[in-house]
Amino acid sequence: MVYVTGDTHGDVSDPRWDWFDEHLTSDDILIITGDFGFDWNDDIRKKWQNFKHDYIVLFCDGNHENYDVLNSLDTIKKFDDIVGVFGNNTYRLFTGHMYIIEGKKYFVFGGASSIDKDWRVEYEEKNNSPRTLWWPEEVPSEDTLLLAKNTLAKHNYKFDYFITHTCNPQLKGPVLKTYKMDFYDPTESMINHLEYLIRENNGDFKYNFFGHFHKNVHFLKYHCLYGDIVNLDDSKIIKGFDDFSFETWETYPLEESERSEIVSV
Ligand SMILES: [Fe+2]
Repeated sequence: MVYVTGDTHGDVSDPRWDWFDEHLTSDDILIITGDFGFDWNDDIRKKWQNFKHDYIVLFCDGNHENYDVLNSLDTIKKFDDIVGVFGNNTYRLFTGHMYIIEGKKYFVFGGASSIDKDWRVEYEEKNNSPRTLWWPEEVPSEDTLLLAKNTLAKHNYKFDYFITHTCNPQLKGPVLKTYKMDFYDPTESMINHLEYLIRENNGDFKYNFFGHFHKNVHFLKYHCLYGDIVNLDDSKIIKGFDDFSFETWETYPLEESERSEIVSV
């Protein structure tokens, strides 16, 4: 089975990992919609490498990642495309690529612009240590956007799941009600453009899963995930992790949740 969740920020003590340990087996795959890590210093990396899990972990790029680490990963062919090998049964999904996982197509467009960039850069300057807290690669390049457009064309603009870190900017106001509403992020314009191309070319996708905003909002086919976990096999949302009260988790059918969110938005 395939599961999706939001940012994990390299924290192996997050109670979602306990839930995954209990419920996932070596047949299962977990996708994290970006911000899988943060700066991945040696200590955090070591903790991850020692963290035992039978299931496969896949992640797209976020804006809190160490791109020196990500860019240094070996690549292998997997899921009908290439992935970066992070180790410990864990792989990076590349932006602009299409993966086929258990017969479904996953189009990936990770990355986002950091609203906290200024203090991170300032810290680097003060400590005379460039590229320790912020990396310009967090925003996809024009070449990557071109690659994404070519990938979509190759697949006739049709796929099952859109995996991103941020989202279409139109969702930021009335739907997400985020404090990042007025913050301009070129990644969101790219996603908007890709969605425009999908519509114009009679393409479609079933759901867009993203993280970044650190909240859970389910609106039509758009799903902003933080603690929420989605089981793609039965389309159910597993809720209850945001207050880190592991015992209180519940499941909701994805479709019902969509309807209730539409009413409340
Ligand atoms: Fe995050």
